[in-house]
Amino acid sequence: ADEQLSEAELLADPVEKIAAVGGTRHPSIPLPVELFGAWKNSGGIDLAERTTLAETAMEIASKPLPAAGASAPADVRAAIDRAAAAFPGWAATPLATRAAILERLADLLEENRIELMALAVKEAFKTIPDALGEVREAADFCRYYALQARTGLAPITLPGPTGERNELRMEGRGVWATIAPWNFPLAIFLGQTAAALVAGNAVVAKPAPQTPEIARAAVRLAHQAGVPEDALVLVTGGPEVGAALTSDPRIAGVAFTGSTPTAKKIAAALLEGEDRPLVPLIAETGGINAMIVDSTALPEQVVADVITSAFRSAGQRCSALRLLLLQEEIAEGVIEMLRGAMELLILGDPADPRTDIGPVIDQAAYDKLMAYRDSAKAQWLKTVAVPATGLFVPPTMIRIDRPEDLTREWFGPILHVATWKAGQLAETVARVNAEGFGLTMGLHSRIARSAELVEAEARVGNLYINRSMIGAVVGSQPFGGEGLSGTGPKAGGPHYLHRFCAERAVSVDT
Ligand code: SER
Repeated sequence: ADEQLSEAELLADPVEKIAAVGGTRHPSIPLPVELFGAWKNSGGIDLAERTTLAETAMEIASKPLPAAGASAPADVRAAIDRAAAAFPGWAATPLATRAAILERLADLLEENRIELMALAVKEAFKTIPDALGEVREAADFCRYYALQARTGLAPITLPGPTGERNELRMEGRGVWATIAPWNFPLAIFLGQTAAALVAGNAVVAKPAPQTPEIARAAVRLAHQAGVPEDALVLVTGGPEVGAALTSDPRIAGVAFTGSTPTAKKIAAALLEGEDRPLVPLIAETGGINAMIVDSTALPEQVVADVITSAFRSAGQRCSALRLLLLQEEIAEGVIEMLRGAMELLILGDPADPRTDIGPVIDQAAYDKLMAYRDSAKAQWLKTVAVPATGLFVPPTMIRIDRPEDLTREWFGPILHVATWKAGQLAETVARVNAEGFGLTMGLHSRIARSAELVEAEARVGNLYINRSMIGAVVGSQPFGGEGLSGTGPKAGGPHYLHRFCAERAVSVDT
């Protein structure tokens, strides 16, 4: 692991380069493309930039981040006061100006990507490709919502009898609370916030307690882009700060990404108080995400997509694959190949560009995952050695008898495997649906009829056929689930902004 990459290796074709540093990679794995391809058109992430990134990351890593502390309930009330006072002015700012500010913010995110990526590595232990993906997705959300606002939030003239003018207007609702997770501390934090802002709302934004500094940097850039200081106010802290925010009757809506139990608590809090207005909750939560593989699937592709979906980002994505369902006839062969592919995973310092998997987010997550893993020791099919120190959870494959045996989401690099019998595809989908979650599902099959069946029957927000199940692209794969996985509308989709708006129909007799 001490070996240094030569300049030639760093500049080589990404797929070859990844191979050169010790991994065989299927070209369909998005990692090299994201690491090297995405910025190519705008200057690429070249050697000089990676060197600066490494230096900045090391500089940030060498200093303790300021202790963020938690906002007190009085701070939360003051934040809402400020946002409520700023709301009318921001709502009256022309839509085109609000959209242009989001586009300026996207530019600023890209200009400041080195610092933002370094913060993502430092605070959330993101690997370099994931940190880059984080900045890209945040910028994509800003540009996409700016575009959607221009086209989708403009007033619409509606028909009526002669002498009557009907118009439908989309307006901001007031002060939104946006509550973000640590696993996408920039992209989701800013995605939720940018959507609320461009729709004409003021925002009080709360990042996860593990990742306040990257959020602080994002808010600073949003202000620099032109969002008035009081129209976007940051509060920091854990569940008690979230509770202070959502229990305030002045909150006009909540956009939340996190766990299902927390989403339910927020929903309950929003209903409390007789005089409290009814307000929307947009919740994106977790899932027991399954990938179904039949005997016609291409095994190499299956293995590459399983490795990406289950283990990339240390499995800390709500979209991640948790349950691999292999048709009996091919199960042993695929498991054997997966064992080999897991051996190639490089665990280590997330700031090292060769690292595939970094540590998990904190001690509590580590303890929970390790205790579960140990309790399932008898069923291990494979576990991978990890660096001696640090919060590394070994990527683990666990055999279960039936899909129903996995009853909750384990938010880490732990993959469960079960088998299904030929001819029981519909039943298998039904059993996954019956878990009650509905976020992502995957299918690997070369039978068109099977794909049609799963498309028709899968009760999930995001279905991925013959590809990996993570990394939804803004504007291409609007993201979000149903059932225990969330309320919708889908982030990065054409209907997202509307939920942030009050719809007003104005009818004038001329
Ligand atoms: N949007 C992410 C993905 O698709 C998960 O939050 O992986």
